[in-house]
Amino acid sequence: MALLPILEYPDPRLKTVAQPVTEITEKVSRLIRDMAETMYAAPGIGLAATQVDVHLRVIVIDISETKNDLLVLINPEILAASGEIYGEEGCLSVPSYYDQIKRAEKITVRILTETGETREFEAEGLLSVCIQHEMDHLRGILFVDYLSKLKRSRIAKKLKKQRQMTM
Ligand code: NI
Repeated sequence: MALLPILEYPDPRLKTVAQPVTEITEKVSRLIRDMAETMYAAPGIGLAATQVDVHLRVIVIDISETKNDLLVLINPEILAASGEIYGEEGCLSVPSYYDQIKRAEKITVRILTETGETREFEAEGLLSVCIQHEMDHLRGILFVDYLSKLKRSRIAKKLKKQRQMTM
């Protein structure tokens, strides 16, 4: 297993649109294991392949307190969405910034599992928010893209400064 470097805003590679997984090869399985390790080490509750510069529709999520409930989403699709929820969101690609974003409260999702089976399930609350956030990454969207241009440029400046200070 390996820890993968996480791209940080405003890296243009974060805007790449991910391609569907056509076959769950050993390479894809390894990507999933490495993404999970990277997410747990960060630590974070979700990670999209886009964030580690692999442009495939793969997401890992674990919102459990005990960090032992890994959810792998391959080629996720939202079949239905309802309600509204404002959650405080953060992102491993936008370190130390959090903001309120409007999302659907409840969603029905269809995914391919690691073993290649199709599965449908409903998610609400934090899990729903997290899935929507990670699915946005797969189409090149970051949560800060929902904020004003002024806020975004402040965040980009702050992150640039942080990176310089940690060199
Ligand atoms: Ni994110």
